[in-house]
Amino acid sequence: MIETTMKKVLGTYEDLASEYYDPIRHPTCANFREGSKYILRKSFEKLLSKDCWLCEVGAGKSLIAELLVKDNVALDRLIITDLSASMLTHSKQWSNVGAYILTADATNLPFASRSLEIVVSSLGDPYNTHALWKEIFRVLKPGGMFFFTTPSYEWAVSFRGTNSGEPFMLAEFELLDAKHIWVPSWIYSTDEQLEIIENEGFLVQEVVNALICDLKNGNLSPKLLSKDGSDKSIVTGYVSAKA
Ligand SMILES: C[S@@+](CC[C@H](N)C(=O)[O-])C[C@H]1O[C@@H](n2cnc3c(N)ncnc32)[C@H](O)[C@@H]1O
Repeated sequence: MIETTMKKVLGTYEDLASEYYDPIRHPTCANFREGSKYILRKSFEKLLSKDCWLCEVGAGKSLIAELLVKDNVALDRLIITDLSASMLTHSKQWSNVGAYILTADATNLPFASRSLEIVVSSLGDPYNTHALWKEIFRVLKPGGMFFFTTPSYEWAVSFRGTNSGEPFMLAEFELLDAKHIWVPSWIYSTDEQLEIIENEGFLVQEVVNALICDLKNGNLSPKLLSKDGSDKSIVTGYVSAKA
């Protein structure tokens, strides 16, 4: 961890991995994951093109493996990757049923150019940089698709403040030992995000939102309770194609 001049302690997902998926300690993460799953589930038909190689980046506990297994689809063409080896331990079980598991940076993937049909990133705000979109464009075959979800800008504005039109760049976590850490979290308005995606050459086919009222698992985080009602977006998904 690095102490910044602003007294914000910059951490990584290695610091968070053992508790990230504890819904009691981190209910907002659990709510975001449910929102992301809701969006990816809607795109599932497109995710299932026959005989295609599929890579999930920044996967942690792979959502795609869960969706595929639920629909009895084999995992032998699924590559699950994450920069954090500790976050990847949450996906260890999937290697027993055919999935490949690799520690890899989503902005520098160990794949040949034009080698993959589908890439998925669930809650990819920690690495939502130009380098990410450039790299995914490189590894996708022409006609390939990138499914990306992020906490919504609408949520970030209501919870993190107005930020004067700038992107939101950091997320704060309180750890079990009461330490607070900050990790990168690049959240842009929909217009800014579309510009980033289209500047890399993608065609955006769909922008999908999961609203607070779409969450059915109960235990809504206090950070999601909105005085403006339950029709607010909490996760936004972008379905992009490489022409
Ligand atoms: C917000 S969590 C989401 C995890 C998981 N996709 C989910 O939906 O539950 C972000 C994940 O991105 C990973 N990550 C952060 N920076 C990354 C990078 N540059 N490349 C790949 N993964 C990264 C973290 O280790 C973490 O597992």
